[in-house]
Amino acid sequence: MSRSKRKLEHIDHAMETGQIDSSGLEDIRFIHQSLPDINLKDVSIASSIGELQLSSPIFINAMTGGGGKATENINAQLAEIANTLSMPMAVGSQMAAIKDTNERRSYQIVREKHPKGVIFANLGSEATVEQAKTSIEMIEADAIQIHLNVIQELVMPEGDRDFTGALQRIEKICEAVPVPVIVKEVGFGMSKETVRKLYEAGVKIVDIGGFGGTNFSKIENNRRLETYQFFNDWGIPTAVSIIEAKYTEPDIQVIATGGIKNALHIAKAISLGANAVGMAGKILKWLHEIGADGTTKNLQGIFNELRVIMTAVGARNINDLQRTPVLIQGTTNNWLKERQIS
Ligand code: FNR
Repeated sequence: MSRSKRKLEHIDHAMETGQIDSSGLEDIRFIHQSLPDINLKDVSIASSIGELQLSSPIFINAMTGGGGKATENINAQLAEIANTLSMPMAVGSQMAAIKDTNERRSYQIVREKHPKGVIFANLGSEATVEQAKTSIEMIEADAIQIHLNVIQELVMPEGDRDFTGALQRIEKICEAVPVPVIVKEVGFGMSKETVRKLYEAGVKIVDIGGFGGTNFSKIENNRRLETYQFFNDWGIPTAVSIIEAKYTEPDIQVIATGGIKNALHIAKAISLGANAVGMAGKILKWLHEIGADGTTKNLQGIFNELRVIMTAVGARNINDLQRTPVLIQGTTNNWLKERQIS
């Protein structure tokens, strides 16, 4: 099967059968405060990732590119939404455009439609330093995401089977590229052991890409008869993974993604220590069902709701929200006890 056909199938499956709803954020509860002493109009949702200043903590996470007109169209619409709302946006893996320069247009359209915006390049951990530099130059990226997707590769019969040397390549990329490097998972979460290894290799920002939203095992298994169903329930829920990362390496910046679907999820993820929050599957579904205008309105609604939630807990800014006390219940609580994180 061609790479571009696979990409289009991923998009179809991601919107329906490839979604789950169990990020662990349902186990997090804010503690009501009756005297928040705050005026909603003074609440700021500005945040930062590394040296990048952001007007809000929410960004559109990596999805597509390199699948001809269809993915070019999706990227153009996503970039217009990001431009209207001054949101950062990541492009999908650029390996297709590194191997075939004819594929560049579907990525470069993002810079064209979001000329002054924060844009992330994206490659897998098989990338070399030269490929990383090319992907950054291709879209004048402000940061680069390096994705780790072992389970997705294993579930695909044509996927990679050799995962050696990834950490060493990431270390070299961190030393060589001129922009911040974000190492990300794609929906299986990062453990404290993984985060420690990345931190020791020089990584300063991780997107923990937790279990609980888009599920690439289900997406791949649903595309074929011979399956590895046992991976469908494999992964570290987003809530657990944020805490594992922050607890292990307090100095590492954490981006929370994986099953983020509303303002309450965003507020909870930040209260666990995240600086920023990415959404992929939910935005793709909105784009499909209600178009770019509807998606823009929904995201504007989320910005407003985030301010309302911050007012309720008395958080004037993202820094305050990161320090807001929460209750951790249920499976997430059990998980943290088992992992000796408290
Ligand atoms: C993705 N994701 C992804 N990630 C990445 O680093 N490079 C990529 O090329 C892609 N491609 C891709 C395609 C589609 C259709 C989807 C839905 C997702 C993963 C994405 O960035 C994110 O990590 C996961 O989807 C988890 O977040 P959500 O979807 O639960 O918000």
